[in-house]
Amino acid sequence: MAERRDDRSYSFDPVYRHLLRARDLSQNADVPRDLKAEINRAIELCQQRWQYCEDQTTKPSPALAHLIKETFAYPWEDAHKEGRVSYYATPRMLTGNLEAQLIKLITNASKANMVLEIGLYTGCSSLAMAEALPKDGKVVSLEIDKGIADVARSFLNRSPVGNKIEIMIGPALNSLEILAEKQVKFDVIFIDADKTGYVQYYKTIFEKDLLASEGTIIVDNVLKDGDPYSGEEYEPNSGAISEFNEMVLRDKNVHKVMIPVRDGVYLIRRMKD
Ligand SMILES: C[S@@+](CC[C@H](N)C(=O)[O-])C[C@H]1O[C@@H](n2cnc3c(N)ncnc32)[C@H](O)[C@@H]1O
Repeated sequence: MAERRDDRSYSFDPVYRHLLRARDLSQNADVPRDLKAEINRAIELCQQRWQYCEDQTTKPSPALAHLIKETFAYPWEDAHKEGRVSYYATPRMLTGNLEAQLIKLITNASKANMVLEIGLYTGCSSLAMAEALPKDGKVVSLEIDKGIADVARSFLNRSPVGNKIEIMIGPALNSLEILAEKQVKFDVIFIDADKTGYVQYYKTIFEKDLLASEGTIIVDNVLKDGDPYSGEEYEPNSGAISEFNEMVLRDKNVHKVMIPVRDGVYLIRRMKD
């Protein structure tokens, strides 16, 4: 169990989870040595595949590397106990370098100028996207917890592009309303906040016309530890993700592809008006 609570991609994969269980079950049972070796090799391959993808990916900028390192080193439990943040904000929420580089690449390829993030945490994906923007580009990032936003700001200030990131504190739906009133449009939107909010965020984005024509929405955690396809209920809120995925599938106005990166990423492109 301890192994799946880390940040590594394979820990989100139910195959890995079941392999660990098979290994545990085989320990004291009368299982042939060859079979035990095969189980161990399969576990090792899951880890090697993840490591290989990490190694073959562009390394983070110094500021992004610092942010990732410091997010793990931060005393989140103490911060929660002392009331500086409203809940135990585990570093497992961090997107990490591989996914951040994917999002950065898409931002860059989209020639985006205006980017919206729903769910800032310590700013990993915000910073990666800001690094892909032109001089006058901007990231608006929504975060409900003021304490978490303060931690993010302290990390973002170390980057030469940190000033491109505007943080809006408050429930994301309220912030979306404010942005809609200002008639702002975004070229790329990354959804990565509370999973039960995904359906409403998606609907609001289109109802309030927040996404530019041919703009892209990137959505995190759409495989939610495997629950949407395994039929298992490993994670709370996975039902909300299944509902979200079904809604996107039915939406004929977007081009979409789901990719099994980390906990699953949905790439959704609004078609030309
Ligand atoms: C998974 S983390 C985001 C990770 C981040 N994108 C990254 O790159 O590391 C989700 C964040 O969304 C915030 N959040 C949760 N519910 C929210 C809401 N209703 N409105 C705004 N932010 C919310 C959480 O406090 C948390 O910091």
